[in-house]
Amino acid sequence: MESQLPRPHGTSRAATLWLLHSIAAIALAACSMSDVQGAHGNETDRLALLEFKAKIIVDPLSVLSSWSSSHHYCQWHGVTCGRRHQRVTILDLQSQELSGTISPHIGNLSFLRVLDLQNNSFYSRIPLEVGHLSRLLHLYLNNNSLSGPIPPSLSSCSNLVSTRLHNNKLQGYVPANLSSLSKLRELWMGDNGLSGEIPLSVGNFSSLEYLHLGNNKLRGTVPDTLGNLRNLIFLSLAKNNLVGNFPSSLTNISSMEALDLAINQLVGSLPLDLDITLPNLQFLSVMYNRFTGSIPKSISNMSQLNDFQITSNSFTGDVPSFRKMSNLLFLGIGSNYLGRGLANDLDFLCSLTNATNLYYLGIGNNSFGGEVPKCIGNLSIILDMFVLEGNALSGTMPSSIGNLINLEVLSVSLNNFSGSIPPEIGNLKKVKELYLAYNMFTGEVPHTLGNLSI
Ligand SMILES: *[C@@H]1O[C@H](CO)[C@@H](O)[C@H](O)[C@H]1NC(C)=O
Ligand SMILES: *[C@@H]1O[C@H](CO)[C@@H](O)[C@H](O)[C@H]1NC(C)=O
Ligand SMILES: *[C@@H]1O[C@H](CO)[C@@H](O)[C@H](O)[C@H]1NC(C)=O
Ligand SMILES: *[C@@H]1O[C@H](CO)[C@@H](O)[C@H](O)[C@H]1NC(C)=O
Ligand SMILES: *[C@@H]1O[C@H](CO)[C@@H](O)[C@H](O)[C@H]1NC(C)=O
Ligand SMILES: *[C@@H]1O[C@H](CO)[C@@H](O)[C@H](O)[C@H]1NC(C)=O
Ligand SMILES: *[C@@H]1O[C@H](CO)[C@@H](O)[C@H](O)[C@H]1NC(C)=O
Ligand SMILES: *[C@@H]1O[C@H](CO)[C@@H](O)[C@H](O)[C@H]1NC(C)=O
Ligand SMILES: *[C@@H]1O[C@H](CO)[C@@H](O)[C@H](O)[C@H]1NC(C)=O
Ligand SMILES: *[C@@H]1O[C@H](CO)[C@@H](O)[C@H](O)[C@H]1NC(C)=O
Ligand SMILES: *[C@@H]1O[C@H](CO)[C@@H](O)[C@H](O)[C@H]1NC(C)=O
Ligand SMILES: *[C@@H]1O[C@H](CO)[C@@H](O)[C@H](O)[C@H]1NC(C)=O
Repeated sequence: MESQLPRPHGTSRAATLWLLHSIAAIALAACSMSDVQGAHGNETDRLALLEFKAKIIVDPLSVLSSWSSSHHYCQWHGVTCGRRHQRVTILDLQSQELSGTISPHIGNLSFLRVLDLQNNSFYSRIPLEVGHLSRLLHLYLNNNSLSGPIPPSLSSCSNLVSTRLHNNKLQGYVPANLSSLSKLRELWMGDNGLSGEIPLSVGNFSSLEYLHLGNNKLRGTVPDTLGNLRNLIFLSLAKNNLVGNFPSSLTNISSMEALDLAINQLVGSLPLDLDITLPNLQFLSVMYNRFTGSIPKSISNMSQLNDFQITSNSFTGDVPSFRKMSNLLFLGIGSNYLGRGLANDLDFLCSLTNATNLYYLGIGNNSFGGEVPKCIGNLSIILDMFVLEGNALSGTMPSSIGNLINLEVLSVSLNNFSGSIPPEIGNLKKVKELYLAYNMFTGEVPHTLGNLSI
């Protein structure tokens, strides 16, 4: 999703600079000695804002039209000042379709607490001068087209609470000394082009709750020091080139609610006691890795789990019961080697009938044998995707399939189903994709199928 950048064209930058210098000269000349501190400070802010404006070359919504001498800068669109000092404390220009670079003069807004430029088309580097903003609490530069490295000088913004740099084109390493930011609770750096290894110092962030490093080019193993982040709630390392085992140090983080390790090259088996070590986990994805072994039985005890995604690994053996997992919304266990080709392989499906909000159930491309149990008719009424393809299932398709009236995708192809296709399949009025091929179905395609708007 690369946003198409307007080509920077030669603005009258020189002219603007000249103008600013003239204004500065006049302002400085006008300021009385007794007023020096205040006037100096607020004039710096005004000039910094004008410099910032000068680097913005596309402003289709004309949000910066109020940024002129006819208004005090505290009244300019997106600018909030502190009451007492009239210094800029918030610069909020999110989602304004702005394009340009971020002026280094931003670093002169020394009272800034919030810099929110998210969801625009800013490009080029994050200026090092952001590191001068020692009062900054929230830095939101996500959803732009920023490139170059994450400036290590950010580590000087010692009051930062949240830093969102995700969804840009940032490159280079994760700066090791960022972790000196002891108040940082959120660090979003996902969806960039960051490379190298995750620095060991990541364990030094003492307040971190959200760490998003997903969709980068990080390699190496997941450092054990991550286990020191005892307040972590959300961790995404998905879509990188990480190797090694499931990071066992993570099992010391009982606060964890979402853990996304999808699309890496991790090996080995899952820890056996996730129910005890990560009791608050709601989201667990390890899909598209190289995990082996069986699905830990203790998963059955994780009643708070919403999403369990282990698609495309090499898991083997039986699938445990999901009886206690009534909060399950998404169950993806396809493309493994699960099942033993035996009659009771799909018994676990009946344990899913308690998951009344389940909307995705994918068990395709495994080694499941036996028949599909009738209880599938008692699966969640909101189920919209049910994928059984590519197994060794036999017998007839239960007519109770017709209860799942909100199904949009049903695939049972590439099995060994026999008998006739149940006419109740015509109840599935919302089906957009129905795959029945490569089975031993006999007889007619039910006339009720005519009701399907495929
Ligand atoms: C700067 O501050 C001084 C005194 O604190 C005030 O008189 C002056 O109006 C301010 N100027 C601006 C542009 O805010
Ligand atoms: C992002 O900005 C676009 C306009 O450029 C707007 O349509 C969209 O709603 C914004 N997204 C969010 C989440 O604010
Ligand atoms: C403002 O920032 C620029 C760029 O970092 C710097 O060169 C300049 O000295 C600063 N001006 C003031 C008044 O602080
Ligand atoms: C960022 O962009 C993505 C798509 O590129 C969009 O889904 C998301 O809502 C945007 N977020 C914000 C905060 O604008
Ligand atoms: C981190 O590194 C940068 C550049 O090397 C430096 O400017 C900054 O002071 C360092 N921060 C800390 C907290 O050591
Ligand atoms: C940060 O982490 C590194 C590596 O784990 C460690 O050697 C260093 O002492 C830590 N620094 C601080 C300031 O805690
Ligand atoms: C969990 O933390 C304890 C105490 O800090 C430590 O002894 C143990 O090695 C850690 N376990 C893992 C798997 O990192
Ligand atoms: C589930 O939890 C109970 C109580 O803690 C425990 O006795 C049981 O062994 C657990 N079941 C599994 C399969 O781990
Ligand atoms: C549903 O959950 C209840 C309470 O946990 C349990 O008694 C019941 O056996 C479960 N039903 C199925 C079909 O697993
Ligand atoms: C099963 O494998 C085939 C062939 O590799 C693939 O096209 C299909 O998408 C897979 N289906 C599922 C549900 O994973
Ligand atoms: C489906 O649920 C109903 C009502 O809870 C129950 O009477 C019936 O036996 C169930 N059917 C199957 C096949 O589990
Ligand atoms: C498919 O099922 C038929 C009986 O319906 C059986 O004779 C045949 O061996 C099965 N084929 C495979 C590949 O399992």
